[in-house]
Amino acid sequence: MAEKGKTSWRAETALIHGGHQRTRHGETAEALFLTSGYRYESAAQAEARFKGEEEGYIYTRYGNPTVRVFEERMMALEGAQAAKATASGMAAVTAAFLSSLKAGDHLIAARALFGSCRYVVETVLPRFGIEVSLIDGAENGAWEKAIRPNSRALFLETPTNPRLDILDLSFIGGLAKSEKLRLIVDNVFATPFLQKPLRFGAEIVVYSATKHIDGQGRALAGIILGSEEYVEEELAPFYRNTGPALSPFNAWLMLKSLETLPIRMKAHCQRAETLARFLESQSAVKRVFYPGLASHPGRALAKKQMSLPGALLAFEMGSKRDAFRLMDNLRIIGISNNLGDAKSLIVHPATTTHSRLSEEARLEIGVSDRLLRLSAGLEHAEDLKEDLSRALSSLR
Ligand SMILES: Cc1ncc(COP(=O)(O)O)c(C=O)c1O
Repeated sequence: MAEKGKTSWRAETALIHGGHQRTRHGETAEALFLTSGYRYESAAQAEARFKGEEEGYIYTRYGNPTVRVFEERMMALEGAQAAKATASGMAAVTAAFLSSLKAGDHLIAARALFGSCRYVVETVLPRFGIEVSLIDGAENGAWEKAIRPNSRALFLETPTNPRLDILDLSFIGGLAKSEKLRLIVDNVFATPFLQKPLRFGAEIVVYSATKHIDGQGRALAGIILGSEEYVEEELAPFYRNTGPALSPFNAWLMLKSLETLPIRMKAHCQRAETLARFLESQSAVKRVFYPGLASHPGRALAKKQMSLPGALLAFEMGSKRDAFRLMDNLRIIGISNNLGDAKSLIVHPATTTHSRLSEEARLEIGVSDRLLRLSAGLEHAEDLKEDLSRALSSLR
């Protein structure tokens, strides 16, 4: 049977063997249980499963053996007691909020969020009577100042999408603990390999596994990780009855991808750092945002809370026209709002991922129309540099 979730394994080992439950055939690769239902041996067994008196699967909306392997592998990597995988990152974010908050509660969120997260926070939650304050999350004092008697949760991402600001996890996590607030962290840009928010006081961590966890741009997936108490008592009933479950096939893709996450992330970060340094040396590039650069204001903080500075960088061109021309002249780096792919991808956030925001709201989080976000892939760094160099020279 199993090499079940051993916590003493190092990440590289846990991501290859964690949660694996072999069938009687002894297959080496994890089995794909593409089934929506499960057959019971007797009516009494069905009754016992529904009553929670016997362990076992009931329905894939509740849980599935392949999805479980993905969840257990992620739990081992994150150091979390429990997890539920979802159909997308946004399903994870939305389920984390709706299972945690009720009408009359107050949520404090950093303003610099991925566009859809910002929509959920600003537009969806208030419709259900949840009060929301958006703050400058990089300013520690702003979190404290925003607390009200009905505050219940804090929400942030770090590094932020798209400008890679670094938020102080240990300060915000400490504040959450002392004020008995639930800190929810969207850890997509850091990945669970580079940053572990639970260690800094977060109670819930959410992912779009669509990004570096898949790492090959194939399928949508998400996951919510936290304490057993939160997942079993608050999230599980919400999850089972509202249906954000991950498809077993996509779970299988994700759990196979986790096997290579550590080596991929090291290589992604090496490409990102090389490109950030190269872009910083180019006169047509006005400013580069990469947490590994000496010029980045969050560099010391990133060093404290991340094992490597990440696979994403952002940079400002002289004008929107130059930004568009640069993108249009690239041959290897593709134009796409997706990220975390083996293929390097570039996007103009102001007209795509953050286009729903007013100009004022965009500028507040540094998303000018001169800003580009680059997701460094796994191509050879020299080829990527040459691609950027060629596109930059076409601006002259
Ligand atoms: C920071 C962040 N959070 C959440 C999401 C949503 O994930 P998904 O597209 O898998 O729903 C994304 C990306 O799209 C993201 O970049």
